[in-house]
Amino acid sequence: MPDTRQAPPEMPTPVMAIESSCDDTACAIVTGDGRILADATLSQSGHVPFGGVVPEIAARAHLSALPALVRDTLEAAGLRARDLGAIAASCGPGLIGGLIVGADMGKGMALALDRPFIAVNHIEAHALTARLPGIAANGAPFPYLLLLVSGGHCQCIAVEGVGHYRRLGGTIDDAAGEAFDKVAKMLGLGWPGGPAVESLAREGDPGAVALPRPLMGRPGCDFSFSGLKTAVAQKLPAQVRTALTRQQAADLAASFQQAVSDIVIDRLGHALDMMPRPTTLVVAGGVAANGMLRARLRDFAAMHDLPFAAPPLRLCTDNAVMVAWAAIETMRARLALGLPIPDDIAMRPRPRWPLSEMAQRMTA
Ligand code: KG4
Ligand code: ZN
Repeated sequence: MPDTRQAPPEMPTPVMAIESSCDDTACAIVTGDGRILADATLSQSGHVPFGGVVPEIAARAHLSALPALVRDTLEAAGLRARDLGAIAASCGPGLIGGLIVGADMGKGMALALDRPFIAVNHIEAHALTARLPGIAANGAPFPYLLLLVSGGHCQCIAVEGVGHYRRLGGTIDDAAGEAFDKVAKMLGLGWPGGPAVESLAREGDPGAVALPRPLMGRPGCDFSFSGLKTAVAQKLPAQVRTALTRQQAADLAASFQQAVSDIVIDRLGHALDMMPRPTTLVVAGGVAANGMLRARLRDFAAMHDLPFAAPPLRLCTDNAVMVAWAAIETMRARLALGLPIPDDIAMRPRPRWPLSEMAQRMTA
């Protein structure tokens, strides 16, 4: 695939982007060469009592937060709305209520300003983040191997070019972050659970509790965490919190974390065999915050003589910079192919939007 990062002069930039596909409301402004002029993310707290994201609460929270967030982001960048070249928004996959709120806000701005509106695939945005300047060695040339591990996603993707993604495998039940959240709930640790499990695991022995590693050693690189989660549940006595000592809970957390990282490393080994040699191993998604997993991934990459890239945490979790950057990469790749800047004003947000459909955007 040709590298298409040299900006042609006609690129409409800077790009303002909106992210509202789950429980983070985010807005950012990014220049054509990847300079972040402003970047703001608001995490919604209304879900905490429910122990998980409630779609209706998320949509309403996006609705009340976005207008002021857009205004504040412009102010932080020192720009007026008319200085923007294009508006982008995550249009799927994700929770439909939030996607509609963000996309309609972006479309309204694009119409009022007479600028193109660019619909961004949220997973594509995670996939391309590593190509923002300064994140990966040599800017992560194609092809690279992406491990996306978040509360909603767990997949290995061969990133072969802008618009060209091959899903090598993914979870057949829970996402990795979902498993962390459920185990945290079982241990009475609150939500989101990943950081709490990780911090408790520091006090525990990762070899203390025997837990299964579903699909490990099997061909392909699909993931399964549901059996692991059930096995953790079976280790718990009936009256959970009161019956476990802190040390027992810590041992369980550490053993669970060890099992998750063993599974991920095994699956990545298979992923490597399923694509041409990648230039880089890239990790993205909220679970990439896990220090132990990061260390294992770094070792794995070194063992395979691959550079390892993990975007800074605020760009690993849901954010709007990645949405703006995906729009910029898409525009640039299309211009390089002699195609016009896309205008997706008529596109309806999609709860499901497979990456395999993105290649169509590079043809018409
Ligand atoms: O990417 P993200 O912010 O949101 C989406 O799911 O799209 O990821 C959130 C997920 C949650 O499930 C959270 O428990 C998990 O990432 N997470 C972690 C850690 N920090 C966040 N999992 C394990 N260890 C962590 N340190
Ligand atoms: Zn995400």
